[in-house]
Amino acid sequence: MISLNGKIALVTGAGIRLGRAIAAALASRDCRMILHCNSSRRGADELARDIHRKGGEAVVIQADLSQKGAAKNVARAAQKAFGGVDILVNNAAIFWPTPLDDLSEKQLDAFYAVNLKAPYILCSEIGRHMKRRAEKSGHLADGGAILNIACLAGLRPWKTHIPYSISKAGVVSLTQGLAKLLAPEVRVNAIAPGTVLPPEDASPESVSALIEKIPLKKSGSPDDVVEAAMYLLSAPFVTGQILAVDGGRILQ
Ligand SMILES: NC(=O)c1ccc[n+]([C@@H]2O[C@H](COP(=O)([O-])OP(=O)(O)OC[C@H]3O[C@@H](n4cnc5c(N)ncnc54)[C@H](OP(=O)(O)O)[C@@H]3O)[C@@H](O)[C@H]2O)c1
Repeated sequence: MISLNGKIALVTGAGIRLGRAIAAALASRDCRMILHCNSSRRGADELARDIHRKGGEAVVIQADLSQKGAAKNVARAAQKAFGGVDILVNNAAIFWPTPLDDLSEKQLDAFYAVNLKAPYILCSEIGRHMKRRAEKSGHLADGGAILNIACLAGLRPWKTHIPYSISKAGVVSLTQGLAKLLAPEVRVNAIAPGTVLPPEDASPESVSALIEKIPLKKSGSPDDVVEAAMYLLSAPFVTGQILAVDGGRILQ
């Protein structure tokens, strides 16, 4: 496996929940961390302080990825922070139910902007730098790794969340296309989580109903995604894969 030790890693949406867990796991493997956040500045700063306390390195970049130009600015700032990026994790996304008769065009645009356009721009800005750097150095085997956090809904659309599902289907396509384009220097994979961390306002009844649909009859945990992420970021012969971490729900 490729060692993550000393790699420079950018994680978007690193201030809370899944993004924070992935960023903390990379830091614990001695990555130098670039923590992106939007409204969760306090969470990102706390994680940065924790990393510093343990002797690691971390910087925080705050940006609203729904805004024009923001993803490009994040890519540039990230590449300046420690002089390049070796690992990119596109985790930030918006998620809410969208009845057909209750969605403004502005909201529809936001799903596209945050969940798909921003990952596309980050992948393209950072991925081509990774590839060019590896071509120059002749270091083809480990030029960099990109991990997109997609969703089961991107593989099997949820009728209650169609704009979100479309955006995540786009992330699946982005991952597979880029895996071909950026090879052999850069590996690009995705995780498609099922329910691993229900929304904080989800009722216990709705969570139980979801669990009923899962062959393994349990909800996942952030650790399930973290372990899958660490595997995909360090697996030298794996690219273009969409790993469902969903207790088998994709089979239903
Ligand atoms: N939780 C699950 O069970 C589950 C299941 C399937 C897929 N996923 C996917 O896993 C990823 C993380 O899920 P989660 O549940 O941890 O997400 P979450 O709690 O909804 O948090 C969303 C993250 O995205 C960031 N974000 C949202 N809007 C943004 C914007 N306009 N600009 C920049 N950043 C923005 C947030 O940053 P701030 O808080 O700093 O604003 C936050 O870090 C997402 O891609 C999600 O689709 C999660």
